[in-house]
Amino acid sequence: MKVTIVGAGNVGATCADVISYRGIASEVVLLDIKEGFAEGKAMDIMQCATTTGFNTRVSGSTNDYSKTANSDVVVITSGIPRKPGMTREELIGINAGIVKAVAENVLQHSPNAIIVVVSNPMDTMTYLTLKATGIPKNRIIGMGGALDSSRFKYYLSKALDKPSNDVQGMVIGGHGDTTMIPLTRLASYNGSPVSDFLSQEQLEKVAADTMVGGATLTGLLGTSAWYAPGASVAYLVDSILNDQKKIIACSVYLEGEYGQSDICIGVPCIIGKNGIEKIVDIKLNDAEKVLFTKSADAVRSMNADLKSVLV
Ligand code: NAI
Ligand code: 2OP
Repeated sequence: MKVTIVGAGNVGATCADVISYRGIASEVVLLDIKEGFAEGKAMDIMQCATTTGFNTRVSGSTNDYSKTANSDVVVITSGIPRKPGMTREELIGINAGIVKAVAENVLQHSPNAIIVVVSNPMDTMTYLTLKATGIPKNRIIGMGGALDSSRFKYYLSKALDKPSNDVQGMVIGGHGDTTMIPLTRLASYNGSPVSDFLSQEQLEKVAADTMVGGATLTGLLGTSAWYAPGASVAYLVDSILNDQKKIIACSVYLEGEYGQSDICIGVPCIIGKNGIEKIVDIKLNDAEKVLFTKSADAVRSMNADLKSVLV
């Protein structure tokens, strides 16, 4: 089982680290455009092998895509974050160029790979990857919901003062501060609705904290987070490579599901060896449906900025 991770920065290298120490794949290739960077990250991770006891082979490459040949899964984390004074269109233009070129390069050497898109704005980059490559929709998965759901469970566990692993919950919709939808109504603590333990006011605060979870970390760290994002990608890759059929909120191409078409946005999916094995149709109530439609409208308006890249 071989995984390529393009972009050996904070998220990409953390993902390689988690995949190796958990033995999720036998081989990981990190690739970056920055000379020597991926090689250095790979060497550093490999020097943990005897202390943490793993057998995964991790190697690095500076832009040599032949090293990525025959990957089962390719993770795309390459891109730049938004800088002061930069418009959304400029950011999308730059990252779209990077993501499109990377996807085309990896597919030349791994035509059957499942692609996991992480670069932001993630829902739009996932849509771009699908449109630019034309590969089947089950093989293009945007990672955002796994991370947002883990943050949701973190804030729920804090409010409940109970272990995170006893809490269930999911975030759907776009991967953005105003577009994600924490499904508070369906969240549970060991099988009981969280509303049995938390007031409406507490639940609203949990949802609000979740929605700005990424921004809170960016404020504290001075750049966006990487431990939970990298681990969330590894969790998704594990479900693919080991055919675990976990239900994970992922950004996927919709053709009528949840009342939406021609868009990639977060919905619950069964993830296995074929990538997206099934989109799970959870019954949203009227208020949740309104939020989902608003979220899709926002993602769609961002997708409109891809026009120049998708000609
Ligand atoms: P980073 O700046 O640490 O790493 C990005 C890496 O991409 C750099 O090492 C850079 O040299 C490389 N790169 C740039 N252009 C490239 C190209 N053409 N080919 C190969 N490598 C290239 O950034 P970080 O923190 O790892 O974040 C990566 C991306 O993931 C950002 O767009 C960020 O916004 C996004 N992100 C998405 C999350 C999600 O849940 N979807 C969560 C966290 C980050
Ligand atoms: C995050 O949610 C910025 O997408 C990144 O941490």
